[in-house]
Amino acid sequence: MPEHYKLQFWNFHLDYFWDVFLAAKLDDKVVGYVMCHAETIHHVRAGIIISLAVAPEHKREGIGKELMQNVQRIFRMKGIPLVALQVRKSNVDAIRFYEGLGYQTEMMLPGYYTEPTEDGWLMSRVL
Ligand SMILES: CC(C)(COP(=O)(O)OP(=O)(O)OC[C@H]1O[C@@H](n2cnc3c(N)ncnc32)[C@H](O)[C@@H]1OP(=O)(O)O)[C@@H](O)C(=O)NCCC(=O)NCCS
Repeated sequence: MPEHYKLQFWNFHLDYFWDVFLAAKLDDKVVGYVMCHAETIHHVRAGIIISLAVAPEHKREGIGKELMQNVQRIFRMKGIPLVALQVRKSNVDAIRFYEGLGYQTEMMLPGYYTEPTEDGWLMSRVL
């Protein structure tokens, strides 16, 4: 899967910090996932997309969109009115993808990412 984080990142989130984790399977093989948690930002409950990825050979088959639509449905059912996420500034494909789902760039996050260091965008949408 194309989101490369260190093992500690996954262990930490799986142990302490996730509320919704969906996997997309095709012929019993995982071809995509989305990992999320919910938190309160300025008194508003928000669903946060921690990581989303689709296997390169299955991109543009609607899997990412379906994962996001399911996550949004689950957040709605939990009464969460907002979804937010961070994305690398250079990840133009993902930014287009999120824009297509109704997300807007809200704020630049200078130096948000490491390895390599890069600015990020905070994106969000109201459900
Ligand atoms: C971003 C990502 C999850 C999208 O998943 P996907 O399954 O390929 O996306 P979908 O097939 O559901 O695309 C839905 C729509 O989003 C838009 N879209 C998706 N990928 C796009 C791209 N590379 N360029 C422009 N628009 C894109 C299109 O409008 C697409 O609809 P269409 O194929 O009918 O034109 C996938 O590209 C990925 O895994 N990227 C690497 C990891 C990553 O960047 N994750 C996000 C980190 S914040």
